[in-house]
Amino acid sequence: MDRALPEPSEDEIAHSARLAEAIRHEIAASGPIPFARFMERCLYAPGLGYYSAGRLKFGKDGDFVTAPELGPLFARCVARALAPALRACGKDAVWFELGGGSGAFARDCLSELQAHGALPRHYWLLEPSADLRERQRERLQAELPAELFARCAWLDRPPQHAWSGVLFANEVLDALPITRFTSHDGEVFEEHVDVDANAAFVRVDRPADALVAGAVRHLQRHLGREFGDGYRSEVLPQLPWWLEAIAGEQARGAVLFVDYGYVRREFYLPERRDGTLLCHYRHRVHDDPLILPGLQDITASIDFTALSEAGIGAGFEPVSYAFQSEFLIASGLDAAFAAAREKAGDEAARYALAQQVKRLTLPGEMGERFQAMLFARDLDIGALFAPQIQVDRSERL
Ligand SMILES: C[S@@+](CC[C@H](N)C(=O)[O-])C[C@H]1O[C@@H](n2cnc3c(N)ncnc32)[C@H](O)[C@@H]1O
Repeated sequence: MDRALPEPSEDEIAHSARLAEAIRHEIAASGPIPFARFMERCLYAPGLGYYSAGRLKFGKDGDFVTAPELGPLFARCVARALAPALRACGKDAVWFELGGGSGAFARDCLSELQAHGALPRHYWLLEPSADLRERQRERLQAELPAELFARCAWLDRPPQHAWSGVLFANEVLDALPITRFTSHDGEVFEEHVDVDANAAFVRVDRPADALVAGAVRHLQRHLGREFGDGYRSEVLPQLPWWLEAIAGEQARGAVLFVDYGYVRREFYLPERRDGTLLCHYRHRVHDDPLILPGLQDITASIDFTALSEAGIGAGFEPVSYAFQSEFLIASGLDAAFAAAREKAGDEAARYALAQQVKRLTLPGEMGERFQAMLFARDLDIGALFAPQIQVDRSERL
């Protein structure tokens, strides 16, 4: 962990103080708040939260870099992987992206789908941050041909009527407000956030309600062991309902989540006694979510076993679960790299492309820490996803 964080500017300190004050107010009115609520306020409080306020987040001048921000190869491979599913869904097929970030993925994905004759009728984006929605719109309008931009639409909530096509999300699940729990004397406690005598945020544990306690007991039953005394970790008890709300109306098509995480028995290793939660501030990583409210990203890894359970519970057929490197290679990374290299103007551009491939695929970079989980509904998966099924590792779940 990197303890020496860069000093925020005066404006940033003032901004963070406004959000901290609003959270303190909430705690004064109703008592300590669940950590998930604290995280939600830190990330999404209108105008103040990390994702809702105007600061640059992605890329080398921001706080972290995501795969679509490295360059176009990631989006091109995802588009190649899912173009057959989109075609199978017919002329009204939709591409539905959750949490579009800077808009880089949508731009590169739509261009690649066009090159493969697989343009969706609509490209929907669901983005809770008003600031990011505006940035996405500006970028896509400036960087896409009018015919492609005309297909983009921003939704205020998940579709409420039947639709078919592709649902895609990169690094969105890790940004969902997470519940932190701990175990004492066989009882489950939920971590809350309170304010101490110096007005600083502190964590306090309170007996978990039935939903959280039930979710933790489900984990223990599945793992076949109890968490030891003082063991602390995270869980997303709302994941099945969240997925149902997002994809419940998807009549036909594919769902792809890419994120960092583990299978359950690796996520809840007995020696991982303080969970997976991490904070990102200007490319420094640390584990204190209670500082810098609104200025830093707060994330936790994904329990891919839980995601698989939620997908199956929502009526989807599991197709493939693979390391990002394997998924991208199975989805045409070599060909996408060769095509981009051919068009690269100079040695510097060719070098940058090679670096992009390394970041996306090397095990010590994003290659194995990030994983891809693919589901389908009412599709001939053997015919449409043969390369991705070949790299499936779902037996690890
Ligand atoms: C770490 S960023 C990833 C952005 C982008 N997908 C990328 O890979 O560059 C997380 C994104 O998810 C969005 N997000 C968070 N919760 C969401 C939700 N419930 N539904 C849709 N998007 C969400 C955030 O606002 C942000 O755009």
